[in-house]
Amino acid sequence: MDGPSGSGKSSASRGVARALGLRYLDTGAMYRAITWWMLQQGVDLSDQEAIAARALGPVLTLGTDPDAPSVAVDGADVAAPIRTAEVTAAVSAVSAVPEVRRRLVAEQREIIGEGGIVVEGRDIGTVVVPDAPVKIYLTASADARALRRTAELAGTTVQAQKAAMARRDTLDSTRKADPLAMAADAVELDTTALNLDEVVAEILRLIKEKT
Ligand code: DC
Repeated sequence: MDGPSGSGKSSASRGVARALGLRYLDTGAMYRAITWWMLQQGVDLSDQEAIAARALGPVLTLGTDPDAPSVAVDGADVAAPIRTAEVTAAVSAVSAVPEVRRRLVAEQREIIGEGGIVVEGRDIGTVVVPDAPVKIYLTASADARALRRTAELAGTTVQAQKAAMARRDTLDSTRKADPLAMAADAVELDTTALNLDEVVAEILRLIKEKT
């Protein structure tokens, strides 16, 4: 499942995984975790070579239970700190670096190879698992996406969220390495006017049709 920030990927992927008894992988959490670690280490994030040189630094551990997904860096739980505004603002710079992507894509494929999993990200259908049996590309209007994010976060406004998300989506879709893109064989689902149950139901219907 791919799509821009705020399109509803996390809630929908977890809901689908839960309904089908599958595992769940949040690849964005992996990019966030490595970004958090780079910030902790004081790596200069305007320097692509510095990021590349440290790409193998931290050990990441992902928990794939859709009811309790987890992410740890060098054994420490980082579920909360990877969601801060500081990490969110820095993650696009780190995830644009090919050495970071090479490492994380290899780890993602290893986890996915164990079978039965719903995976969310930006390049899952195009790069990570081009032979996935079902590919969904979630979208929603910029206003709907900003509204959802504002409801999730404290101390922000719809306008500020809309601007921050537009900036991140532009960076994520225009970078050279594996940009956000819809796979040619993905089904696009616009969630602007749908609630979570409707999105999950529609995806379950698509999965039934395709498998
Ligand atoms: O899904 P998210 O907002 O937590 O993702 C955080 C960032 O990670 C996103 O702005 C781009 C990057 N990302 C990526 O480059 N490739 C992925 N497969 C998933 C996320």
